[in-house]
Amino acid sequence: MPAPSLVILTGAGISAESGLATFRDAGGLWSRVRIEDVATPEAFARDPARVHGFYNARREQLADPAVQPNAAHRALAELDARWPGDFLLVTQNVDDLHDRAGSKRLLHMHGELRKARCTRCAAVTPWAGDLSTTTSCPACGGAGGMRPHVVWFGEIPLEMDRIAAALDECDIFAAIGTSGLVHPAAGFVAEVAHRARTVELNVDRTDGTRLFDEARHGKATDTVPRFVADLLAAT
Ligand code: APR
Repeated sequence: MPAPSLVILTGAGISAESGLATFRDAGGLWSRVRIEDVATPEAFARDPARVHGFYNARREQLADPAVQPNAAHRALAELDARWPGDFLLVTQNVDDLHDRAGSKRLLHMHGELRKARCTRCAAVTPWAGDLSTTTSCPACGGAGGMRPHVVWFGEIPLEMDRIAAALDECDIFAAIGTSGLVHPAAGFVAEVAHRARTVELNVDRTDGTRLFDEARHGKATDTVPRFVADLLAAT
């Protein structure tokens, strides 16, 4: 009997205990700035310096030595390494904490904060520092066309074909630390619910909790290691 196929979706809640703000909790990012001002193509066309400032500040925070992968990130990296069946970790997060925890079978559907993309040649370049309206592209040399390699509202998330293929095959689907409010990620559970075991891990109930077979409430650093141990014990 082959091991079940696993798809795990994570959101900002898995990085909260590493010190990174979520979006919609009290004091979250969207309570401080408006999506329309910093996270849409129109915002970038209207005021690119403001958009760069928002992402530069988040990139700078990610470089803070105090911001490290937490026990939930590490547990998912262990699951990736030890799971004998098909496995895909789809994160909505643009931080690199899953990568730094060691996750390999990982996909950033909303892009990555520590990468920049040239709007002229489309080259994607690792980028740890600030971007500005005069930054030159290391690939084509063009100046002033660099943007964060982050998917904005109104844009198509990355690698949706690969995600669809994984969802088509998955036997177990878990959503961790996401409010389940932003599509297409919010729709994944409904896509698989008729044939996969679905589990929600979150500190609170969400609007989507009713769509899951099981809900495990608590902080990710408590619930995720226990969930991973349960999955590995069952293989
Ligand atoms: N442990 C587990 N869950 C937590 C924790 C924690 N320590 N802290 C917060 N949460 C939960 C909250 O209850 C909430 O349901 O994490 C979720 C965070 O929700 P959002 O802030 O909406 O973040 P997310 O779901 O990732 O947002 C999705 O929206 O703004 C866009 O592109 C952005 O990728 C983001 C997408």
